[in-house]
Amino acid sequence: VDSSTVLQDMHGLRVVVSAGPTREYLDPVRFISNPSSGKMGFAVAQEARDRGADVTLVTGPVSLADPAGVKVVRIDSALQLRDAVVGAAEAADIVVMTAAVADYRAAEQSTEKQAKVAGNVTIHLTPNPDILAELGRNKGKRVLVGFAMETHAGVERAAGKAQRKNADFILLNYPTREGTAFGGDDNQVTLVRADGSYEDWPRTTKREVARKLLDEALKVRPAR
Ligand code: CTP
Ligand code: CA
Repeated sequence: VDSSTVLQDMHGLRVVVSAGPTREYLDPVRFISNPSSGKMGFAVAQEARDRGADVTLVTGPVSLADPAGVKVVRIDSALQLRDAVVGAAEAADIVVMTAAVADYRAAEQSTEKQAKVAGNVTIHLTPNPDILAELGRNKGKRVLVGFAMETHAGVERAAGKAQRKNADFILLNYPTREGTAFGGDDNQVTLVRADGSYEDWPRTTKREVARKLLDEALKVRPAR
């Protein structure tokens, strides 16, 4: 038996987790998205559930089945993700944003399929709301955790994001770390705080990363 299934140290806590990609439809049959598998967010939801938390998992389109004992909300777009997360976060103690939110959506979504034309086309995009930043502006006593994937200057950029979005910490990874990140079962992350302090965690399973993430969130909580 896994020790976390015995230790109910999150009993009575409400945890909201976002996972997976968003889809930003251009027309009824085409969208902009990214390769997020949802595995990291699902692992956080399952770990929190096994530790006794009341868990809401808001997920974009992924090929993973609903975890038992978790309230699962399926969404497509960043705007839908925003509404679901902000609503659920109101009563939450901990919010973990693993979702790979598309930064832009179509400025105008066509209701009809767009036929191809000769030559180049231009797509007009408009920024999506920053959900983590919005949660950070109305933080209350909640612990806010973000994720970031960076190709360079990772710690500096992740610390800047934690600061700007008022997140307690961000777990940073790099697309070049093989077997981790998009689609893998393992992850190798660096915990980065707004003050620029950081800890490199060893490569391990996403479930173990989830466990350490929640340990850190529980450590941060009393200071709220
Ligand atoms: N995030 C969010 N809403 C968005 C974009 C990102 O809530 N519209 C969250 C992500 O879920 C993640 C964190 O913010 O937890 C960092 O995401 P990232 O894409 O690295 O941050 P951005 O501010 O979008 O910066 P970048 O320009 O590097 O994409
Ligand atoms: Ca982004």
